[in-house]
Amino acid sequence: MKKLIDKLYDSNNLSSDELLLLLNNMDEESKKYLHMKANETRLHIYNDKVYMRGLIEFTNYCKNNCRYCGIRRDNKNASRYRLSKEEILDCCKEGYRLGYRTYVLQGGEDAYYTDDKIVDIVSSIKASFEDVAVTLSIGEKSYESYKKYFDAGADRYLLRHETNSRELYDSLHPDMSYDNRIKCLHDLKDIGYQIGAGFMIGLPNQTNEDFVQDLTFLKKLQPHMVGIGPFIPQSDTPLADEKAGTVEKTCILLSLIRLLLPEVLLPATTALGSINNKGREQGLKAGANVVMPNLSPTSVRDKYALYDGKICTGDEAAQCRNCIENRIKMAGYEVDMSRGDHISLQNK
Ligand code: SAM
Ligand code: FES
Repeated sequence: MKKLIDKLYDSNNLSSDELLLLLNNMDEESKKYLHMKANETRLHIYNDKVYMRGLIEFTNYCKNNCRYCGIRRDNKNASRYRLSKEEILDCCKEGYRLGYRTYVLQGGEDAYYTDDKIVDIVSSIKASFEDVAVTLSIGEKSYESYKKYFDAGADRYLLRHETNSRELYDSLHPDMSYDNRIKCLHDLKDIGYQIGAGFMIGLPNQTNEDFVQDLTFLKKLQPHMVGIGPFIPQSDTPLADEKAGTVEKTCILLSLIRLLLPEVLLPATTALGSINNKGREQGLKAGANVVMPNLSPTSVRDKYALYDGKICTGDEAAQCRNCIENRIKMAGYEVDMSRGDHISLQNK
């Protein structure tokens, strides 16, 4: 396996068969070596910096019904909320005070926020705070809608592809289209966003073959960001009794992604920190270089319950900021509060 890892490290590429061979034969020694090479690659491109993004979860209404997701339409136990533009701007203000220069606005697919409302929110943030980047993560929209948000100042867009296996995708997403999800990612890239794709790890019936498809898809798409995290069951969803993904598998995939896409911005996600107290630290050591602490008001935090056992639901933004900074330092890295653009855009 060491030879294959060296080949991946040197060429930033492997065939599907080689990737599958690696995934099927990961013993302890290979894992250690893989993480070491991924960390080396990340240090080479981004030094020991970890970029911080302030996450604002502004609505938990959603018209979709993803079978794994706690804010799915059919979850009648979800206590729904929406933040007003003023409340969102207040989160940004607190974030700015704490040093954040990137805000990620995430929510379910909520028709209440019309294009005009999103444009107004994005342009107000950009007008109020100098030098900040705005990332949207609000699901599938038309090309025209994405273009309007971009013209209003949105810089980045996160839309996980969730899984690149059509059959698995269809089994998890009633009334949704795999083709449309992929089309959205291409539209976003065409428009000029820094785009983020990504997937979950440990979904029921997910295999190493599926991961190989995810990895080759990412290599081809060349996104600026990749968000991956373990699937974690949520008690009010159809997948409530399924097993969660593991830190181990997530870290292997983080390392493979770092080696396939050396310049990618790669978060150690909240889900990873939720299945293990040191999950995010392990993610950083496996090649991740971004964290996304929560800036949402504490009054709504526990309502954005995508999965059970989500961490940081009771903490004020300032507490999250300090907690994560200590964790990053203890893991041997440095906090970077700048906009943290993709390396190809940092000198522009
Ligand atoms: N609606 C937007 C979208 O579809 O991209 C953004 C919000 S969505 C809730 C954000 C991400 O949460 C999804 O892309 C999915 O990967 C993740 N997620 C949802 N349920 C999850 C679960 N049970 N475990 C882990 N991650 C989950
Ligand atoms: Fe909202 Fe999946 S339940 S996008």
